[in-house]
Amino acid sequence: MPQLALTGGPKSKSKPFPAWPIHDERERQAVLEVLESNVWWRTPGTRTLKFEQEFAAFHGAKHGIAITNGTHAIEVLLTALDVGPGDEVIVPDSTFVATASAVLYAGAMPVMVDIDEATQCIDPALVEKAITPRTKAIIAVHLGGHPADLDKLSEIAAKHKITLVEDCAHAHGSEWRGRKVGTFGIAGTFSFQQSKNMTAGEGGIIITNDDAFERKARSAHDCGRLPGEWFYSHFSYGSNYRLSEWQGAILSVQLTRLDDQTKRRHANGRLLDKLLADIPGATPQKHDERCTRNGQYAYIFYYDKSHFGGAPTKQFIAAMNAEGIPNQAAYPPVHGLDVFQNGSYRRRLCAEQAQEEHPFLQAKFPVTERAAWECYWVPQYCLLGDEQDMHEIAAAVKKIQRHAAELG
Ligand SMILES: Cc1ncc(COP(=O)(O)O)c(C=O)c1O
Repeated sequence: MPQLALTGGPKSKSKPFPAWPIHDERERQAVLEVLESNVWWRTPGTRTLKFEQEFAAFHGAKHGIAITNGTHAIEVLLTALDVGPGDEVIVPDSTFVATASAVLYAGAMPVMVDIDEATQCIDPALVEKAITPRTKAIIAVHLGGHPADLDKLSEIAAKHKITLVEDCAHAHGSEWRGRKVGTFGIAGTFSFQQSKNMTAGEGGIIITNDDAFERKARSAHDCGRLPGEWFYSHFSYGSNYRLSEWQGAILSVQLTRLDDQTKRRHANGRLLDKLLADIPGATPQKHDERCTRNGQYAYIFYYDKSHFGGAPTKQFIAAMNAEGIPNQAAYPPVHGLDVFQNGSYRRRLCAEQAQEEHPFLQAKFPVTERAAWECYWVPQYCLLGDEQDMHEIAAAVKKIQRHAAELG
């Protein structure tokens, strides 16, 4: 008789995970209020402005600039830093394409480096090796919500006089040494796309403590305008990256749940760490003790097929899905994406840079490769479940291991 749900056996999961996105009467009311106010546009509105202030304060930042999405937030940030043709920006090879494509959008070259095997965040030693006279910035990505090593990265950035920025698209509410992420470098960017830890369907924000940077970024996100100046004066290059009042209003409500939700995701993450410790071949992303709160956009663990009868990762994912445990696909290595391998990225670069060799695009990124093809990502909303849900995740992994012969 088959045991695995994939082969016709019973499912491990006895009850559904919480649905996502979470919303209630307060979001409904917020949207209705915007509708009836007839002010749907950011510029004269009050709701997006209020959200910017609330989100920044929550993360211990002085300023927030709400942006159309997380990709655009990085683009605006790079514009405000004057990153452009001839420059290089160091990014991790394990991230969503946006971290690198925003650099190309600025006309600069993203230089990918491998990640730390334990935390899966950018490897500071490799960052230091990749620095050249052209390096303008380092973008740290807090993968799955776990902060990159912000101590070492800050030290390297200061030593080489390079700007550190944080792509916090996974890390709403994450903390490093008791301080929220986003202001360890000059600024941090976040995404509010639907899969993220709080959402308005789409959306983004930049947070910063630096007044001069804030002025430039705010201007860049609003067609090069400056506060208090005539509406049709445009002082520098900018575009329209403003977030609507609908999204600002919804996000203010979403933010009221973030602290409790982050506590729960973090606690469930640590419970899963304990439960998976008993399972050979399932190795969780390391939880560095300096990470005092993990926003836990995903719970990530390495899958070693040698402990599962040699079944490839894809088959393990299919078996877990059949048991009722969703998987969020890990990112393919950025350097290997078509845009970098077919040469089309060169069209974004200045003539000199476009004609150069970029040998790192043909290099090996062994840790990122493993993270990409041998990991399971449990999505954040599953971590909003209860302890039983976590036990059922671990039970599903154990069951597949016990009956791995059925996958053969
Ligand atoms: C690490 C990372 N950076 C940037 C982004 C871009 O955010 P958005 O989808 O809101 O443009 C995402 C999300 O999708 C992401 O995961």
